[in-house]
Amino acid sequence: MNENRAGYLEHEGVMLTEVNSVISSTPPGIFVDATYGYGSHYRNIKDNFSELDLLAFDRDIDVLNNSNSEIVHLNFSQISEYLINNNIDRISGILYDFGVSSHQLDNYTRGFSYSNDGPLDMRMNQNDEINAFEVVNKFNEIEIANILFQNSGEKNSRRIARDIVSSRPIESTQELVNVIKNSIGKQNPKYISQTIKRCFQSFRIYVNDELNEIQKSLNSIKNFVETNGVIICLTYHSLEDKIVKKIFTELTTSCYCDVSIPVCTCKNEQLYAYGKKKKIYPSGKEISKNPRSSSATLRYVVKL
Ligand SMILES: C[S@@+](CC[C@H](N)C(=O)[O-])C[C@H]1O[C@@H](n2cnc3c(N)ncnc32)[C@H](O)[C@@H]1O
Repeated sequence: MNENRAGYLEHEGVMLTEVNSVISSTPPGIFVDATYGYGSHYRNIKDNFSELDLLAFDRDIDVLNNSNSEIVHLNFSQISEYLINNNIDRISGILYDFGVSSHQLDNYTRGFSYSNDGPLDMRMNQNDEINAFEVVNKFNEIEIANILFQNSGEKNSRRIARDIVSSRPIESTQELVNVIKNSIGKQNPKYISQTIKRCFQSFRIYVNDELNEIQKSLNSIKNFVETNGVIICLTYHSLEDKIVKKIFTELTTSCYCDVSIPVCTCKNEQLYAYGKKKKIYPSGKEISKNPRSSSATLRYVVKL
């Protein structure tokens, strides 16, 4: 057993009760956990829904090494390909719990954390070629500015990118933190920490191609879900939520042609309907117990 395993087991999944309530009306069959992490959602579903056969995925090798469950090591954008290759044509539903896990954040050697010093890595899949060191030390100023602006709307993106380039080599997370701090100068501490958070998040999203992953996966999984089955997404920041919202709107709309056009040209077919509520947030009680849940939004759609 890996010595990090205890760290995996102590975390509790976000919005477990709300996820259970959505899953309670899905048909029996294969239910996919697209983001196994430390397995909290997986175990919760397993314990509460004996009629569901769980199939789990994660792109992080640590996750596989720290679990007793069978987990497929793939990006969730590859799940539909996996289903085809394994002759699975229907699933009862799928859960995505996006973003980085507490374990990844807390383990300084992974380079996600701006609070502890570590190598500039940020890869969720340790086999991926590109890491944060490459981006920070090899990309040009415009590329870095674009990453910062596009992935978090960072207003100081150009200035920070210029200072990153002139401070190279930047070897560790704390060196990067110091460059960002010096770049924005004297500001109130909250503004400084939010800027650092946005920059780290931007590099992480870029390194892991996170937004494309969501888009590709949702667009390719929609035809595998059975009638009354569900697609559930837990998002943690506005860019993730925007993508989910856009795709769910397409899935739940029969026609999105401009109203001024007399004949439908989009030929869109409504495949899903929203559940009772379009968005669900964690309770105050959950947020006080687990502050990291405070940014979570749950959205789900039901197959028609
Ligand atoms: C927030 S954690 C999930 C926590 C999990 N639901 C639990 O209850 O323990 C997100 C997990 O998804 C994984 N992940 C993120 N993006 C992924 C992707 N594109 N494909 C596969 N796994 C991904 C991460 O490696 C991480 O382990």
